[in-house]
Amino acid sequence: MPREMERMWVLLVRSLVVFAAWSTHAAAVARAQLLTSALVPACPAQCICLSQSPVVCNSATLRGVPAALSSSVMQLSLSRADLRVLRSDAFAHLRQLRRLSLDACNLTRIKPFAFRGLPRLNELFIQHTPLTTVDAFAFAALQNISSIVLSHNKIAQIEGYAFAGTNFIKLISLRNNPIKRILAHAFSGLNDVNQIELPSGIRSIEPQAFAGLEGVGVLELAYMDLPALVQDTFFGMTRIGRLALRESDLGVIRAGAFDGLRIVDTLEMCNNKIDGIEELSLIQNNSVHTF
Ligand SMILES: *[C@@H]1O[C@H](CO)[C@@H](O)[C@H](O)[C@H]1NC(C)=O
Ligand SMILES: *[C@@H]1O[C@H](CO)[C@@H](O)[C@H](O)[C@H]1NC(C)=O
Ligand SMILES: *[C@@H]1O[C@H](CO)[C@@H](O)[C@H](O)[C@H]1NC(C)=O
Repeated sequence: MPREMERMWVLLVRSLVVFAAWSTHAAAVARAQLLTSALVPACPAQCICLSQSPVVCNSATLRGVPAALSSSVMQLSLSRADLRVLRSDAFAHLRQLRRLSLDACNLTRIKPFAFRGLPRLNELFIQHTPLTTVDAFAFAALQNISSIVLSHNKIAQIEGYAFAGTNFIKLISLRNNPIKRILAHAFSGLNDVNQIELPSGIRSIEPQAFAGLEGVGVLELAYMDLPALVQDTFFGMTRIGRLALRESDLGVIRAGAFDGLRIVDTLEMCNNKIDGIEELSLIQNNSVHTF
């Protein structure tokens, strides 16, 4: 027999033997193991991947989002990992993610569009990190998320368009952050948000800070210490259920502070210290229903 044919013959016999072996009991066990490893693919050394439960990678030795995770992971916790900088599209290989926890993960920067490509992400938690700034477009394009919880960080500044293109969200919480200034357009491009929770201690709100924020259920601004409520503070904010300014030193209410605020169901101003009012024209200009 020519060498080539001989080799093919050996191969054929081998496959037959392998095929026959499949039907034996021992092989059935092996096959079951093979199937499991196909369903639950490689789990990085720093992670625990049990099916039907969140993948947990909470090791301080983990630097960066693990690349070798199954694309079917729905819940992921990288709490206590050492992530530092989240790059753009950092989770794009995990399209099925529903819940993502990045608590205490030593995060210092979130690059624009870090969470792009997660159409099903429902809950995102980033708490107890050294994050100081929410960059422009950091949380952009999260299409159908229900909550973004950013409390207990070191966030001092939110850049314009940080949440652009993120719609139908129930809660954005920024409680317990040292935010002093709200920059112009910080919430631009956010539509139909039930509630935005801001921390206490805000010292200045730039004109048009809320411009482009359309359809908010509740926006509460409490325990602020402002020199003035400047012109156009609420400019470009449309369809508000309840806007509450409470327990704050509002300084001087400048002419046009409420200009361009449109369609407010309830505007609440209570227990504030007001040093002076240059002008306050509300009901006709802003379609405020209750004051
Ligand atoms: C956190 O990141 C900083 C650099 O940004 C690094 O110096 C520090 O060791 C990290 N801490 C932990 C606990 O991983
Ligand atoms: C959006 O999220 C809701 C749950 O909050 C879910 O019922 C719905 O199917 C999601 N829509 C899309 C397009 O993923
Ligand atoms: C507010 O209303 C008054 C009277 O209705 C009007 O003269 C004024 O131009 C309005 N201001 C703005 C900024 O729309």
